[in-house]
Amino acid sequence: MLVIVKETYDAMSKEAARLVADRLRKKPNMVLGLATGSTPLGLYKELIRMHRDEGLDFSKVSTFNLDEYVGLPPTHDQSYHYFMRENFFKDINLDVRHIHVPQGMAKDIDAFCAWYEKRIAEHGGLDLQVLGIGGNGHIAFNEPGSSLGSRTRIKTLTGTTRMDNARFFKTKEEVPRYAITMGVGTIMDAKELLLLANKTGKADAVKAAVEGPITAMCPASIIQMHAKAFVFVDRDAATKLTGNYNDSWESKIFQ
Ligand code: PGA
Repeated sequence: MLVIVKETYDAMSKEAARLVADRLRKKPNMVLGLATGSTPLGLYKELIRMHRDEGLDFSKVSTFNLDEYVGLPPTHDQSYHYFMRENFFKDINLDVRHIHVPQGMAKDIDAFCAWYEKRIAEHGGLDLQVLGIGGNGHIAFNEPGSSLGSRTRIKTLTGTTRMDNARFFKTKEEVPRYAITMGVGTIMDAKELLLLANKTGKADAVKAAVEGPITAMCPASIIQMHAKAFVFVDRDAATKLTGNYNDSWESKIFQ
């Protein structure tokens, strides 16, 4: 794992974007796994800038999103379809036929999940998966206790995750109870992982994921088993880390 600590959220986001752009230039038809949430917004903003100012080309890229709420249509302003369109897709030149976001309105959820896994495999697997981390150590909607070998499936959201996300809904009750999420095993099959975390509220989760024991109680800790995982943190999220970490992903010193 390569841990990169930057002074600010902005610097962290730009450093992560440089890595994504590097991989995209090397493989124009890369298969990119994407995440929602407040954390990757800076990364998406910088990739949009690179597309606009430097001609970074997404036309051959295929994307797969980590998760989606069950029961929210793509038009709902809290659906992850909507989030991705508004915060990333509408401002780059992705081919809409190459975009994959789990279907929260699928009638047969199990069949949909099996199809999603098949679709990723048909694309040759994920080249690079972007990840956030929950305050409780979740990755995607793989909450504490999730099988570390799990595949795409429906999951019940924990009370803390529903509370964390309640800020986006008018009332707490409106926060969906279920989500479709890539499994921990699905994520671990990606050739590279890029986990982002900022703010002090993530410091304990980052510490547990990077320096704690590998445990299903902190699903993010499984990244310690990945051969090419990059962890980008800002100074605030790094406060609990005790290791000696890097300034750039180009340092190539994998711990
Ligand atoms: P956040 O969520 O980026 O909104 O903090 C991250 C997550 O829960 O995975």
